[in-house]
Amino acid sequence: MYTDIKTILDDASKNNYGVLAASAINLELARGLIAAADELQAPLIILMGQIQMTKHARADVMVPLIRTLAEETNVPVALILDHGRDWDVITHAFRNGFSSIMIDASAYEMEENIKRTQKIVELCHPQGVAVEAELGHVGQASSGDQDLSEFYTKPEDVTEFLSHTHADCLAIACGTAHGQYPKGVIPQIRFDIIRAVKEVTDVPIALHGGSGSGDENIKRAVEAGINKVNVCTEIFNYVRDDIRKALDENPDLDLLSLVSRAERAAKEIGKHFILLTGSQGKAANFQKTSGFAHGFAELNLGIGE
Ligand code: 13P
Repeated sequence: MYTDIKTILDDASKNNYGVLAASAINLELARGLIAAADELQAPLIILMGQIQMTKHARADVMVPLIRTLAEETNVPVALILDHGRDWDVITHAFRNGFSSIMIDASAYEMEENIKRTQKIVELCHPQGVAVEAELGHVGQASSGDQDLSEFYTKPEDVTEFLSHTHADCLAIACGTAHGQYPKGVIPQIRFDIIRAVKEVTDVPIALHGGSGSGDENIKRAVEAGINKVNVCTEIFNYVRDDIRKALDENPDLDLLSLVSRAERAAKEIGKHFILLTGSQGKAANFQKTSGFAHGFAELNLGIGE
């Protein structure tokens, strides 16, 4: 079923578990990830970034695709514009049927961040579109931003930020960064920040930059209070490496077999992260409100083989 992040994450926050939020920019990633969620009966959030959307994953094509796949399973699936920064891109995603929007004004001082977030909430909430905001700033792993404590969310700011913005989910900065860490680097997650934020709010909280954080760290972050675990790079790399392996084994592999294999790889890595978040079986917490009832896993995903 197609839904929004608030529906999914309120349950996760109430029942202390995490939900995988995974990037999908094409058919194979979307099908593989949704099949993983269906098999494990877990809620799932699909991320599509502002840059990804501008460069490749056109909203008018991807939204109907993801909605269709979501309606073929009983597990709740939300689609969120990830790191929306520009009004034009945000309203484009909004008009095209994203169920959720992230406004990332985290590069600004808190007052400006509040103002920009309020504007998006005013646009979205009357239409039932859920909003994620960011307080503190999650930077880039390639610049070592995960170690910059001045970027970390200050738990004492959280209540004020949320009371002014009414965001449905809050991304916090607590020692991770986006993208690929240098070889051998595993981020030091500040679990104390996660716990301190959780103490002052019931609003679900999100960890960005899940890739390369280490399985134990992700589990501990969820135990500390994280409800949404964003992962992109590690999923893309896993699928890319699997494609490379397939072509190494058989350079003449036909394209249909290759893309089917990519989809299977997306399902495998999706299942891995879903299990880390503890959302397996949690689809049972949600009432099916739309779509039809057969399981996605029943569909023939192995076409071309
Ligand atoms: P990674 O690519 O580091 O997993 O980050 C994903 C993310 O946080 C998207 O918002």
